[in-house]
Amino acid sequence: MQNDYIIEMKDITKRYPGVVALDRIQLQVKRGEVHALLGENGAGKSTLIKTLAGAIHPDEGEILVEGKAYQHLEPRLAMELGIGVIYQEFNLIPYLTVANNIFLGNEPVKGTSIDEKTCIAECEKVFERLGITLDPRVPVRNLSVAYQQLVEIAKAVSKNAKVLIMDEPTAALSGKEVDMLLDLVRKLRDEGISVIYISHRLEELFEVADRVTIMRDGQYIETLDIKDCTRPRLISSMVGREMGENYPQGKYGTDEVVLEARHLSNDKIQDISFQLHKGEILGFGGLVGAGRTEVARAVFGADKCSGELYLNGKQVNIRCPGDAVRHGIAFITEDRKQQGLLMKLSIRENVTISSLDHIRRHGFSLDLKKEKKLVEEYRHQLNIKTPSIEQLVSNLSGGNQQKVVLAKWLLTNSKIIIFDEPTRGIDVGVKFEIYQIMRDLAKQGISIIMISSDMPELLGVSDRIVVMKEGRLVGELQGDEIQQENVMQYAISD
Ligand SMILES: Nc1ncnc2c1ncn2[C@@H]1O[C@H](COP(=O)(O)OP(=O)(O)OP(=O)(O)O)[C@@H](O)[C@H]1O
Ligand SMILES: [Mg+2]
Repeated sequence: MQNDYIIEMKDITKRYPGVVALDRIQLQVKRGEVHALLGENGAGKSTLIKTLAGAIHPDEGEILVEGKAYQHLEPRLAMELGIGVIYQEFNLIPYLTVANNIFLGNEPVKGTSIDEKTCIAECEKVFERLGITLDPRVPVRNLSVAYQQLVEIAKAVSKNAKVLIMDEPTAALSGKEVDMLLDLVRKLRDEGISVIYISHRLEELFEVADRVTIMRDGQYIETLDIKDCTRPRLISSMVGREMGENYPQGKYGTDEVVLEARHLSNDKIQDISFQLHKGEILGFGGLVGAGRTEVARAVFGADKCSGELYLNGKQVNIRCPGDAVRHGIAFITEDRKQQGLLMKLSIRENVTISSLDHIRRHGFSLDLKKEKKLVEEYRHQLNIKTPSIEQLVSNLSGGNQQKVVLAKWLLTNSKIIIFDEPTRGIDVGVKFEIYQIMRDLAKQGISIIMISSDMPELLGVSDRIVVMKEGRLVGELQGDEIQQENVMQYAISD
């Protein structure tokens, strides 16, 4: 009888110095199912799928692919066995066309050159099968992240992948693009392809997954049918205790205006004026692409703009991010890679690198004891999962890297902090800890601008919300007006 499972991972163990990243993990993936992996930051999800992709070798355990057992896989072998991985960092070649990328390495040839026509025709076939509308002739560099991802998926499918692994595929996508991806995932499943799907967004799992395996601290917890799950059930299994999803209460905004923008304009934003109060959390709502990040970049001096900026009533001229930082403004961007995390340095060094002045003794030598103590405090406060603060940032899980960025900025003693999508890639448990930290910062008199596309987060955390649409500020909500319908009304109104 043919085995029901296309993939079976048995007792997979992987140790790193000071951590057991995987501790006898089990995973059974059926043919044609969407199998989600769920767990807190650092639970071991990415490590597990890397063993399946052949990128790392487990210390113990075995991997069965269609019933055949392997001690470990190699990337090439995994591919030949039909295991495809959609990595966060795409492996596409920007200046080649979509079609050339998809057939890279096994192009159909005619005589001595690539048979472009067949290439394009084959490509169109795959697209049609998957319901993708895309011209195979355009260079990949002209595509948005969402479409590049579709190309990656089409590429894997054209290589006859039977299992597709997606590690946080929606992390960089907008709402509409997420829907497009989820549709594609369903389509793959209907074609009999199994999908291993990792995401911190529970609502996506409910939309697309058939079953879910939950991991905690490198250990296997359980596998459940999604239809038997509720949100609280998944969360408590993941964090190992009951946890309410309560937004921290307390309003600390005063009348004092710390930041005022008047008529900021550039090619992305038009005539933006707003005030930010001391101790306030000001939410920026709107659809992805409405210009919210562009406003933040203009205020932070990362993009040029016309108009005026006032700090505590005094006009200032911020020409570059350095000026902004000197004026006590911090900008925590949504993209970890552009955050300036130095991957080859330790957590400690990354956290303190922008604030060495705070920990210098008599202006010269660093007070190493103080440095260590500060970093340990943040490690504790932000629950950074690591055996030691001397761990290289490159060895941390994605979500924990995000927390290092946060610690780094918290240490700079900024008075105004701009958070752009603050909890993207952060597990649900820690999400609410971050909201509490934001609230605590506000209580200390720090003013916060929070750009968020996560509606519950925007509504639950903001004291006041301004809504943007097509580069303009179109509405403001406070008190009882803070409701989803009102945000959407402004965000999509004509
Ligand atoms: N090369 C490495 N050296 C040392 N430790 C590592 C290495 N790779 C992973 N780890 C550790 O293994 C653990 C599991 O990490 P992993 O990246 O698999 O987590 P994750 O579940 O994907 O988390 P996230 O949701 O934050 O992405 C973490 O504690 C991480 O620091
Ligand atoms: Mg990960």
